[in-house]
Amino acid sequence: GERPRLLVVANRLPVSAKRTGENSWSLEMSPGGLVSGLLGVAAQFDTKWVGWPGVDVYDEVEKRALSKALAEMKCIPVFLNEVFDQYYNGYCNGILWPILHHMGLPQEDDNDTNKTFQTQYDAYKRANRMFLDVIIDNYEEGDIVWCHDYHLMFLPQYLKEYNNKIKVGWFLHSPFPSSEVYKTLPSRSELLRSVLTSDLLGFHTYDFARHFVSTCTRILGVEGTQEGVVDHGRVTRVAVFPLGIDPDRFIRTCKLPEVRQQMNELKERFAGKKVILGVDRLDMIKGIPQKFLGFEKFLEENPNWRDKVVLVQIAVPTRNGVPEYRKLKNQAHGLVGRINGRFGSVTSLPIHHLDCSVDFNYLCALYAIADVMLVTSLRDGMNLVSYEFIACQEAKKGVLVLSEFAGAGQSLGAGALLVNPWDVTEVSSAIKEALNMSVEERETRHRVNFQYVKTYSAKKWGDDFMRELNETVTESEMQI
Ligand code: UDP
Ligand code: G6P
Repeated sequence: GERPRLLVVANRLPVSAKRTGENSWSLEMSPGGLVSGLLGVAAQFDTKWVGWPGVDVYDEVEKRALSKALAEMKCIPVFLNEVFDQYYNGYCNGILWPILHHMGLPQEDDNDTNKTFQTQYDAYKRANRMFLDVIIDNYEEGDIVWCHDYHLMFLPQYLKEYNNKIKVGWFLHSPFPSSEVYKTLPSRSELLRSVLTSDLLGFHTYDFARHFVSTCTRILGVEGTQEGVVDHGRVTRVAVFPLGIDPDRFIRTCKLPEVRQQMNELKERFAGKKVILGVDRLDMIKGIPQKFLGFEKFLEENPNWRDKVVLVQIAVPTRNGVPEYRKLKNQAHGLVGRINGRFGSVTSLPIHHLDCSVDFNYLCALYAIADVMLVTSLRDGMNLVSYEFIACQEAKKGVLVLSEFAGAGQSLGAGALLVNPWDVTEVSSAIKEALNMSVEERETRHRVNFQYVKTYSAKKWGDDFMRELNETVTESEMQI
């Protein structure tokens, strides 16, 4: 039969446009876990994407030209323009992101009366309306609308107000915090009520789903059940769908001659040394300073390892418009300088820190040659980087050192060495254990994790969510 039609709505489109001149653009793959996960599901459905194109465009002729280029990739742009700064840098990433990651609200900037919590909240609602308008222009009866992430918490309500028949799902790619943290958000109730108008809500882990349900019961006084949340007899289904990757894409890429060549060059470059790898957007939640402190402790305590190990850290630039992110960059550079100064020599440095993204093939080569992958997130929705490392390690069977505060800690915990990233001593000893681990133990751990990564793929995630959404809608129609 025909593939079901799906509108995937997320702030990030899978491609982002960069302006290369008047009315000309280059389209690049967007970074981040949401996009790489969703690319893995698109094939089973007749999918169209709705999202922000990555640039401001005010001119109507230019808007049409970019829309046309994006349409070839099934993408429909939402031009957020003047709303973007307060919506994305302000409300989404200055307020919601830290709250959802248990970091608490920042101090409101009382020097700038044009940028308050209130003006950012208003911009957030306006942006969600702009997404709605684009969906209305493109919706066809029967389409499923799948909304993604914390950027679009008002969209479910707006969609249902527009047309109550639309099947609406919402998936949160970040953690959901304990109610004690979430409670501090000024607009806490409105956001919850809106997402509850969806037919199905999805989270990565049981903890996040449980936090969400109990937050609803405490703040809204609704009832929490096995099924989800019940308000005056209306059920909103809440369920757990752990996101994964497309493992075959990584396995295939590692076999390409070009990638083999890159692997050989990297091996030569690091001959005689073990490679510890970190790949993160330069985000507070990733615990990059904590990673450096743990590594510093390891070098301090293990002088015999000092010229036999390097930490390669890819710090992908992200959200530069948010002040906290700019501060983090300086902090990371300070630590790298200190540690390289302390433990480096004229010819070798312990940390290779790069402020850039890497292309997909090179990323796979790095994953494949690494001996240890070091993930020290302080909080993280899932952390797909851990999955990608495992997919590329069929030959090497390296060790994953993984934060217990990443969603992946619950799925890959059996094969990984779990750590509390705040405990430098624990990180240091996990690094040591990983570097000294016997081949047999590495093989056993790798096998368990590889099996998990193969089974719980992005495709399965998408199929499971869609099946559950259809079942939920059918059940509620039968009740009426
Ligand atoms: N990634 C990327 N560019 C890079 C390095 C990595 O786009 O230079 C990808 C990586 O392959 C992974 C995603 O970014 O798919 C990161 O996802 P993750 O879930 O680990 O964290 P997020 O960035 O979503 O918080
Ligand atoms: C996380 C969020 C995504 C986001 C990604 C990259 O994975 O859950 O919604 O797309 O980070 O961040 P960015 O702000 O560049 O889209």
